[in-house]
Amino acid sequence: MAAPNIDTVVSLAKRRGFVFPSSEVYGGLGSAWDYGPLGVELCNNVKQAWWRWLVYERDDIEGIDSSIILNRLVWKYSGHEATFNDWLIDCRKCKGRFRADKIADNKCPSCGASDWTEARPFNTMLQTKLGAVADDDPTALAYLRPETAQGIFINFLNVQTTMRRKLPFGIAQVGKSFRNEVTPGNFILRTREFEQMEMEYFVSPTAEHSKLVDYWVEQYLEWFGSLGLNRENLYLYEVPQEELAHYSKRTVDIMYRYFPEREKPWEELMGIAWRTDFDLGTHSKNKLDAEGKRLNPDSTEDLSYFDEAAKQRFYPHVIEPAAGVNRTVLAVLMDAYSEKTNDKGETRVILKLSPQLAPIKAAILPLAKNKPEIVGMAKAIKRSLQPVLRAVYDDTGGIGKLYARQDEIGTPFCITVDHQSLEDEAVTVRDRDTWEQERIKVSDLAEHLQKRLKPYPVPAPETT
Ligand code: GAP
Repeated sequence: MAAPNIDTVVSLAKRRGFVFPSSEVYGGLGSAWDYGPLGVELCNNVKQAWWRWLVYERDDIEGIDSSIILNRLVWKYSGHEATFNDWLIDCRKCKGRFRADKIADNKCPSCGASDWTEARPFNTMLQTKLGAVADDDPTALAYLRPETAQGIFINFLNVQTTMRRKLPFGIAQVGKSFRNEVTPGNFILRTREFEQMEMEYFVSPTAEHSKLVDYWVEQYLEWFGSLGLNRENLYLYEVPQEELAHYSKRTVDIMYRYFPEREKPWEELMGIAWRTDFDLGTHSKNKLDAEGKRLNPDSTEDLSYFDEAAKQRFYPHVIEPAAGVNRTVLAVLMDAYSEKTNDKGETRVILKLSPQLAPIKAAILPLAKNKPEIVGMAKAIKRSLQPVLRAVYDDTGGIGKLYARQDEIGTPFCITVDHQSLEDEAVTVRDRDTWEQERIKVSDLAEHLQKRLKPYPVPAPETT
């Protein structure tokens, strides 16, 4: 079972400290969200799982962390200044403003009228000004990056030469991106500030690019499986030619069933694009157009690659898997949501998060909080586990309530310390999903938990 709709997750997320509406003390800020104590752990665990999977477990990928604000020329030559547009239309009746491509049946979603203005482009890059300059000084204009990818392209040679890389190899980056979305919404699905996990995989111009797109689609399906996503809630969308971004020859989107209650339940979770040699070429000083003119008279570098074996210089092609942290977190929360009835007939929420993603791995609960020996032992166990896994101590309720609270936030194990523990140096370990309990010696506890906390198995990556 997964969450029946996004609203179920929104209320759980707020109630239990995963995600709060931002700036609430001033009436909020549309579609901006703050991650609370559990949300920040979940996001970090998603990012760490991704980084481990690509940068540590594979041998062909390096990581970087580039600036959010780049030279404005990056966005001129990447094509974003000219083409990173949404098409806007206004309803003449209610004055509502919408994205033209999101209007179904030509009807205004607010008032139902069909009286529209002409569609006009609106550039969705968020602008800022650098330095202490006059408001209208055009030389100070800069953008908050709308994708992390460009920071990777402009560092291609730096990484390739310092790390002595040969093709094929990839560069991964995770970080914030910004888009002045016309119609943000649906909780953390579409916001103006969000986080991306992008990887640019550089290959020869003669590689089998379309097959590589398929390869990365398969790899990501497996990775999402390792995060606990049910394959039935994922769907592949081959983006039609007329919808492709200006740099792409082929893109496959992995969609998630974010709207199970709707007739059209799918929305993009990530995209895998063959970006050709567009980006490295466009930022290079030596790339010529069909008439032999320099494409980029502003660049001081040439981002081409010399292939020693073939004795050839060329601009590598790129396969780009681009995923969103927030959309992954939302999908993970929706998929993990389940309900179970206890023997008193009460419905309990259980968040069946993959153990590697769970914000808290173990909660240590004393059965009698007025017994100093039991409390002392429970606190000592918490401290001894902390170096190897995220553990918390909680004595703020009866045991039934404490179990229910931990189930609802996805904690895989509750550990209870009782009177007998003082005698036999053992504790009860309760499993979140089955509610089964077993008695474990305190001396074996860390090892026992670590074994059971292993992520769902991800098959070893095949080499390309
Ligand atoms: N570099 C390619 C690129 O940025 P994209 O499809 O525009 O491609 C990649 O973005 C991913 O970033 C999306 O699949 C989604 O997960 C995430 N994303 C994009 N816009 C977003 C937004 N406004 N809010 C939340 N996530 C977003």
